[in-house]
Amino acid sequence: MKEQLRAIRGMNDIVPPLSARWQHLEQQVVGVLNAYGYQQIRLPILEQTGVFERSIGDTTDIVQKEMYTFADRNGERLTLRPEGTAGCVRAVLEHGLLNVQPHLRLWYIGAMFRHERPQKGRYRQFHQIGVETYGMAGPGIDAEIILLTARLWRELGINGLRLELNTLGVAAERERYRAALSQYFEAHYEVLDEDSKLRLVRNPLRILDTKNPAMLGLVANAPSLVDYLDPESREHFAAVCSILNAAGVAYVVNPRLVRGLDYYSKTVFEWITTELGAQGTVCAGGRYDALVELMGGKPTPAIGFAMGLERLLELHAAQTGDQPSSEADLCVVAAGDAETAATLRLAEDLRDDLRGVRVLCLCGGGSLKTQMKRADRSGAQVALIVGSEELASDTITLKPLRGQGDQQRVPRASLRDILTKVLAL
Ligand code: HAM
Repeated sequence: MKEQLRAIRGMNDIVPPLSARWQHLEQQVVGVLNAYGYQQIRLPILEQTGVFERSIGDTTDIVQKEMYTFADRNGERLTLRPEGTAGCVRAVLEHGLLNVQPHLRLWYIGAMFRHERPQKGRYRQFHQIGVETYGMAGPGIDAEIILLTARLWRELGINGLRLELNTLGVAAERERYRAALSQYFEAHYEVLDEDSKLRLVRNPLRILDTKNPAMLGLVANAPSLVDYLDPESREHFAAVCSILNAAGVAYVVNPRLVRGLDYYSKTVFEWITTELGAQGTVCAGGRYDALVELMGGKPTPAIGFAMGLERLLELHAAQTGDQPSSEADLCVVAAGDAETAATLRLAEDLRDDLRGVRVLCLCGGGSLKTQMKRADRSGAQVALIVGSEELASDTITLKPLRGQGDQQRVPRASLRDILTKVLAL
């Protein structure tokens, strides 16, 4: 036997019945996005490496160590997208979307790639649903996207997420803060770990992002960015908080929340759970008012977020339990191979007549008994059996599979009405 090939480490297949959970979650999320008037954008998975280097920042972990970058057959440097924001800005500018819709609300879904160390909740190929909005500078849109995520958790039945908020100010404020941070960490140079010493030279703000427990005390006593903010940034943040207060959305202000990407300014936020272990951030985002200009566009305010679908799903499954999966609502069975064509025709007619009902046709093969076992395993509510007698009398045998009444022979002409009742459509 040949050696069996395997998927790449950290890149997962999503197979049935789990794929049904994915579909369900995606449909619910998309329903909420539509309810807020967001439009879908579909973006390539590969971009020129510069798209990410310029936007995410070349001192970040993502650009430094995690991107899948390679030269293609023409020698062009390409990267598998590690996130969606950079490519979205690139596409918005390339298609002049802001000239048509200066206030733009977009969403996307898809696979992202980061060469991180795989563990529970952290994968090398993972999936995000993200939202990006452009052209709105006021605090209203910051609050809207947070309200949108809060609604999502409610509709998905997910509880116990903590919302952390912070403001990162604008570039000039961060420059002042950066100088103060450098001074502080230089004064404690001997207790910095190796990574932080490098970050001190490249970007001291990144030290605040450390996961090293030995560094947390030092980081806790570092200067806070809030003390370096101008009134405009403070007022923007206060306004976001006050809208959330009025809307009854609970949050905690975490002055240490810095995010792992360089393009952020002003409001940043994360939704965090304690139920998934170390990888507890299920959704994260913030403002990036300087990025559109940095990518070659006119100065344009922007804000967005992305949620990790693997994490969201894991949490959803943990909180809502295993839902029985089923392939179909109705299962059409041929008593013998001679009736296979008739069952296919019946299944087609039912799909026309009963929109949205899942009809599985077994396509023959095996005895009636074997087929009835397959019908039962499909999870369908009802089996519809077609044999020679049924064909001769223009009837169908209807067998409830989940204990709702007895088997009965019904006229083909009344099948639709009977099924509408039996399936409570
Ligand atoms: P991010 O924080 O890098 O932000 O990722 C957003 C979410 O994607 C995380 O909170 C997490 O749920 C999920 N995620 C990230 N890395 C992994 C991984 N290796 N395995 C599994 N899940 C992961 C961004 O990507 C920004 N583009 C968000 C944004 C949009 N900001 C503004 N607009």
